[in-house]
Amino acid sequence: MNQVNCLVTGGAGFIGSHIVDQLIGSGHSVTVIDDLSGGYLSNINEKAKLIQKDLTALKADDPILKDIEIIYHLAAFPAEGLSVFTPEYVTQRNLTAFIKLLTASINNQVKTFSFASSMSVYGNNPNCPFDETHPRNPTDPYGICKASCERYLEIYGVEYNFNYNIIRPHNVYGIRQNLNDPYRNVIGIWINRILNGKNPIIYGDGEQLRAFSYIQDVASCMAESVFIEDSFGEIINLGGAKPYRIVDVCYSVIDAFKLDIEPLFYPPRPMEVKNAYCTTEKSEKILGYKESKNLEEGISEMVAWAKTLPKPKFKYLSNKTYEITEHMPKTWLNREM
Ligand SMILES: NC(=O)c1ccc[n+]([C@@H]2O[C@H](COP(=O)([O-])OP(=O)(O)OC[C@H]3O[C@@H](n4cnc5c(N)ncnc54)[C@H](O)[C@@H]3O)[C@@H](O)[C@H]2O)c1
Repeated sequence: MNQVNCLVTGGAGFIGSHIVDQLIGSGHSVTVIDDLSGGYLSNINEKAKLIQKDLTALKADDPILKDIEIIYHLAAFPAEGLSVFTPEYVTQRNLTAFIKLLTASINNQVKTFSFASSMSVYGNNPNCPFDETHPRNPTDPYGICKASCERYLEIYGVEYNFNYNIIRPHNVYGIRQNLNDPYRNVIGIWINRILNGKNPIIYGDGEQLRAFSYIQDVASCMAESVFIEDSFGEIINLGGAKPYRIVDVCYSVIDAFKLDIEPLFYPPRPMEVKNAYCTTEKSEKILGYKESKNLEEGISEMVAWAKTLPKPKFKYLSNKTYEITEHMPKTWLNREM
C-alpha cells in the first residue's frame, strides 16, 4: 500500500489514538489535530505530528490541511447525556467544528473524508436492531449535531466530488478510554467509582438494552475504511451486535473486580433512549468487521489496565458550561459522582 498523508482529528482521544497507531503501523504519515480538551498527550503515537488546536478556530482555507489526502474526523465533545443541558456548547464543538473542517478540507482539495458519526442519529426508535436504512430521528442535541454532519457530508461530497464515508460506532470500550469523564462511557464511569471505593450508579431500572464494541475491532475497521472503495458514499454501523441489559453489564464490571457489591439505582436521565443496538451485516460485508473478544473478556482487560493507572478522578466542566440546569441529574449538577 502507498504511504498517504492522513489527518486524524481527535487523535489524542480514545478511538482516534488507536486509529493513529494502526495508520502508523501500516507506514502512513499521520498528523493529529487535537486541543486536548478530552484527550491526552500520552495517547499520541510518538511518530505522529501533533497540532494542538481547537477546530472551531480553523480558517476556511487553513494551510494546516495542505498536502493532507485523507481526513478521519473523530474530534468531538461526545457527552450525549450531558448535551441535553449544553445544547449551544455541544453544537459549537460538534457541528461548527465539523463545518470548519469540511470547508477547509474542500478548499484544500482533500480526497477522502471519514466521519465518526454515532448511533445517536437513530434516536428513540423501538425497532431495534437498527440497520442503516432506519431514518435519522435524533432525540438529543448530540444526535442532532451528528445527523447534521452526516447530511452536510452527503451534500458536499456529491457537489465537490470527494470520497466520504460515515461510520456509526456505538458504546466503544477498552484501553485508553477516558476514566476521568463523569458524563459519558458507562463502563469507564463504573470503573472510576469502583476504583474510588464507591458503588456503580445506574440511571433508571437498568433494563435498558445496549450493545458494546471492543476498541480494537472498531478502530481497525475505521482506519481501513478509507482504503475500501465500497465504503465511499456509505453509512455503516460499526460495533457489537449482542444486546445486554445495562444492569448485567454493571455486574460484569463488578465481577471483573472480584467484588461483592451492588449498583445504586438513580432516577432516569431525561431523553435517554430505552433500547439502542444495531445490525452488523453491512460492516461485516464492507469493512470485514468481526468481534475478537466477548464483552466479559474485554471488560476484564480494561479493568486490568485501569488498575495499573493512578487512581482516576472525575473532571467536571465549569458550571458556567451548563446552559440548562432544570432536570439535570444531581450527580452532575452537584458534582456528586
Ligand atoms: N466512544 C464511543 O463509544 C463512541 C460512539 C459513537 C461515536 N463516537 C464518536 O467517535 C469520536 C471519538 O470518540 P472518543 O470516544 O474517542 O472520544 P474522546 O473524547 O476520547 O476523543 C475526542 C478527542 O477530540 C478532541 N477534541 C474535542 N473537541 C475538539 C476540538 N474542538 N478541537 C480539537 N480537538 C477536539 C478531544 O481532546 C479528544 O482527544 C467522537 O466523534 C464520538 O462522537 C464515539
